Amino acid sequence: MVRKVALRAGCIALSMATGALGAAPNEPPAVHPETWPSPRWPVAVDPVAEGKIANLLKRMTPEEKVGQLLQADLASVTPADVKRYHLGSVLNGGNAGPYGDDHAPAPKWLQLADEFYNASTDTSGGGVGIPIIWGTDAVHGHSNIVGATLFPHNIGLGAAHDPDLIERIGAVTAEEIRVTGQEWTFAPTITVPQDYRWGRAYEGYSSDPKLVASYAGRMILGLQGKPNSGPILAGRHVIASTKHFIADGATFEGHDQGDARISEEQLRDVHGAPYVPAIEAGVATVMTSFSSWQGYKLSGNKGLITDVLKNRMNFGGFVVTDWNSHGQIPGCTNTNCAKAINAGVDMYMAPDSWKGLYATMLSQVRDGTIPMARLDDAVGRVLRVKFRLGLFEAGKPSQRPLAGQWGLLGSPEHRAVAREAVAKSLVLLKNDGVLPLKPAAHILVAGNGADDVARQSGGWTISWQGTGIPAREFKGATSLWSAFSAAAKAGGGSSEYAPDGRFKKKPDAAIVVFGETPYAEFQGDLKALQLRPELRKPLETMRRLKAAGIPVVAVMLTGRPLFTGAELNTADAFVVAWLPGSEGGGVADRLFGRPVAGNAAFTGTLPAAWPTDAKPGGAALFPRGYGLAGRDTKPWKPVNEESGVAEVDNNGVLLGAGVASWGWALRVGNDHETTPITATPLEALNGRIRVTAVDYQVQEGARLFDLAGGEPLQVLLESTDPVDLTRETNGEVMVVSTIRADTATPADATFGLDCGSRCSATVPLRRADLAVGRWTTLGVSLKCFVGAKMDKVMAPIVIRTALPFRFALARVALATSAEKVLTCP
Ligand code: BGC
Ligand code: BGC
Repeated sequence: MVRKVALRAGCIALSMATGALGAAPNEPPAVHPETWPSPRWPVAVDPVAEGKIANLLKRMTPEEKVGQLLQADLASVTPADVKRYHLGSVLNGGNAGPYGDDHAPAPKWLQLADEFYNASTDTSGGGVGIPIIWGTDAVHGHSNIVGATLFPHNIGLGAAHDPDLIERIGAVTAEEIRVTGQEWTFAPTITVPQDYRWGRAYEGYSSDPKLVASYAGRMILGLQGKPNSGPILAGRHVIASTKHFIADGATFEGHDQGDARISEEQLRDVHGAPYVPAIEAGVATVMTSFSSWQGYKLSGNKGLITDVLKNRMNFGGFVVTDWNSHGQIPGCTNTNCAKAINAGVDMYMAPDSWKGLYATMLSQVRDGTIPMARLDDAVGRVLRVKFRLGLFEAGKPSQRPLAGQWGLLGSPEHRAVAREAVAKSLVLLKNDGVLPLKPAAHILVAGNGADDVARQSGGWTISWQGTGIPAREFKGATSLWSAFSAAAKAGGGSSEYAPDGRFKKKPDAAIVVFGETPYAEFQGDLKALQLRPELRKPLETMRRLKAAGIPVVAVMLTGRPLFTGAELNTADAFVVAWLPGSEGGGVADRLFGRPVAGNAAFTGTLPAAWPTDAKPGGAALFPRGYGLAGRDTKPWKPVNEESGVAEVDNNGVLLGAGVASWGWALRVGNDHETTPITATPLEALNGRIRVTAVDYQVQEGARLFDLAGGEPLQVLLESTDPVDLTRETNGEVMVVSTIRADTATPADATFGLDCGSRCSATVPLRRADLAVGRWTTLGVSLKCFVGAKMDKVMAPIVIRTALPFRFALARVALATSAEKVLTCP
């Protein structure tokens, strides 16, 4: 297995590595804890548990103590490891599932939970045998599990303005987690996003700290139950984790894992505000952010973690880092970082680095780099949470309440709560009178997102980025199209679905579903607040339908407010549906005017301002809090249709339909010279390389390369500036090419990455085993390019051979799924 260590933050997807701001400071900036609020920690001291903790701390060896503070990812740990290294916790990262299967059925999760539990409590090899806890990203329902109820992502819940509903969602989510045997969710995200170019903005409820604060405590009560109401595991609850501490939503230009260049007042009053009710609700864990404050990484900020969060704000749970985020602290690597624990971190999320960290921490405990008092305090905090769970008496996961009650996963009652949440989350921005739809009408449903549950669910759904999930994995879910067609039928009307809007029977009204496609961390970052070009086609459909005299209802699936002037002007009604999740019925309820929780009218309002154009920080077209109430119709004054920005967003697509994206060039040549392909057909090196345009999906949607051989010849996609891909490399991002080999792959052919002079890494292309004459998407993990400088990538794809080879290339993107994945050497 290839292991990457010590990568500094790469900031945003495809950001040019040039123009870096001054060097990061080596020490965190000073804080003034006495100016911060001091909420009350509600969990009563349990003298019996305290006695047991003290006793355990006396009996535990340094090995057991260090192990207790490590959290390993499923993909890199076995039950035998858990026993041998006394690990305190495991997690499933977004792309990990039991026994190597991210889509594993629910019983497998419970089965593996038992195996980990049994290993952790097995004292046959010595040790005190402390039961393990398993953390999962149940961030919009138990969202890693096939068949679970999927709630709207947080931004949609923010639009609902309903704290009671939030608590009910927390309770339902906790129950579903208990079915599969986990004890801990990495939720709620209580970020307060200030720049919606940030690809994680949808994980936050609102840009308004008051709204976020009004939800934070309620979600935690829903998940964990009331403090002091008995052992958590004896009931229907789990422990929560507020994240990402602190100011993850304040980073410069909305860069994921970036730097919050704000004052301590803003840090406290805006981004710290939701932590007050979270602590008052007794949140068991807090996850530190990948991001920095004033240039210094949060995971190493002692002033904020120890002096503010623990000492001033009285947080009595434990602090966990985010996915190898400790490795980004200056002077740290993923496997060596005493700075984090010494700053007040209690548990390291060390997915694939836990073993190395175990060894370094042990020696640092022995040589005093990590003081014994700090070690004992950290272990004590983890144990205190475990006692609060009632973990020592709970037995193995499958014996606990709700475990194995498969019927609870996606139960009708749970789905009803989600459906209500969906209806309440919808925001009506425009209505010329077409809504509510007439029951007996013939309705056309268009837009390719209309029958796609993955699309309506967004990132953190079964897989990490929410991509690559087949429709069959959404058993029991309702797509928008199926909800609309059922609603039309129930009203005595009819419906038809045509993604491109070409109907069979002239409809009385059309619903056009459009918007974003799924993304999660950093892959969703944008440079401007607008849809990627390839997602704007439904506007043409809307225009065509309008021209035919058909009223249009635009339904937008999106993780954030985006510039949509033309769609707003064109459609007769405009509904923001956010990322509603599995219950499309909630959208149909509102569109067809059916009562939900006693109300048939729209009630949602914007949780963040809607922009006039795509310019960052531009004026608001609709302010936060806006939304047409009820069945209001309102005369429409045409709004701005100019984005105001240049089209520079590649969003991970480096080559589309055979054409290089902005900032990239497709070139051919040998080791001495290369020529850019500006037009086709093209001949280079006296005809030894020939390039023509061929069709793929669209006319001339690909380029065909004929390499004559005789000397090493290459086809490469080159950037104008070096590109920083360190963050992508630390994740599971691949270079995904849509490729067709027209002759057998030559034995010497390589797939490589170029990082400037004398810097490159290659993988034999033969490993891909390309079938001749067949298009496929080929994924090569960035991790395969061992030794390359990933912060200075010039060409992420270089196909090279000295033998004759003919192949075609249509698309190259940075993505997380592909039909064929080349195994790293
Ligand atoms: C994310 C966290 C998440 C963790 C575990 C990190 O990369 O930032 O939000 O909880 O991974 O999947
Ligand atoms: C995510 C994990 C994910 C991993 C993929 C992390 O940044 O948070 O959940 O599985 O990347 O390598």
